[in-house]
Amino acid sequence: MNTTGNTILITGGTSGIGLAFAEKFIEEGNKVIITGRRADRLAAIEESNPGLVAKVSDVSDASQRVELTKWIKENHPETNMLINNAGIQLLANLKAPCDLERVQLETETNFIAPIHLSTLFVPLLEGKENACIINITSGLAFAPIAFMPVYCATKAAMHSFTLSLRYQLKDTGIKVFEIAPPAVDTELGHDRRADKTESHGGIPVSEFISGAIEAIQNDQYEAAIGMAAGLRAKREELFEQMNARFDSI
Ligand SMILES: NC(=O)c1ccc[n+]([C@@H]2O[C@H](COP(=O)([O-])OP(=O)(O)OC[C@H]3O[C@@H](n4cnc5c(N)ncnc54)[C@H](OP(=O)(O)O)[C@@H]3O)[C@@H](O)[C@H]2O)c1
Repeated sequence: MNTTGNTILITGGTSGIGLAFAEKFIEEGNKVIITGRRADRLAAIEESNPGLVAKVSDVSDASQRVELTKWIKENHPETNMLINNAGIQLLANLKAPCDLERVQLETETNFIAPIHLSTLFVPLLEGKENACIINITSGLAFAPIAFMPVYCATKAAMHSFTLSLRYQLKDTGIKVFEIAPPAVDTELGHDRRADKTESHGGIPVSEFISGAIEAIQNDQYEAAIGMAAGLRAKREELFEQMNARFDSI
């Protein structure tokens, strides 16, 4: 993939991986459109990044996904790359009846939205030069952390869906990538930490972005970055080891 001269829609660009992708792609001479729910952040990011376009859009709402697609067709019809990045990570205790609304929100955001958006975008991307869909999954797609069971299941499902999407689109000219990050130091899951500035650990986002961009440039269609590569390789073996660490939670 050529990573310059594109028009790229990134869902969830108000922080973390989405924002870092946006800034890197702008630096490399692309036009970038980001979305998110937080209007104040989108406005501030747009102001400090000339060339970046920001749009308030909630991917967990099907009608907003349809509206976003229509808006892109009308305002940025040259869009040739879709990055399904927006995601949330919630904890769930499976020993009690689950909070169905939370389960539905996490599933809608992480899994149903990328399915819906990908299919809405295929007609727009087809026939364009250097067209692609990039799904951001997770190393946890390959070995779950049991206290965030729905999150990990949505990422495993996205891994499977991405294989099927790539297969079905093989004659369309649209390349389909899966980028599986390791733990990256972003705001993901920060609402469950008392101190919002506290890091959940993980590699710096800039390090992740370098690995991800290299994979995209090299047409590495399934790229597990950093520690995520190990998770992919040793999934079952690591499941027991990882969860033993959290036995006291
Ligand atoms: N950080 C990690 O360790 C890690 C590891 C593996 C995979 N990932 C994946 O990487 C992706 C990005 O996460 P991140 O780490 O960068 O976390 P982050 O800093 O929390 O960013 C998440 C982004 O998603 C957006 N978002 C969430 N719900 C949304 C919704 N309903 N509609 C539109 N946008 C929404 C947020 O924007 P608003 O709040 O403004 O809506 C924000 O821009 C996610 O898919 C995540 O699962 C992250």
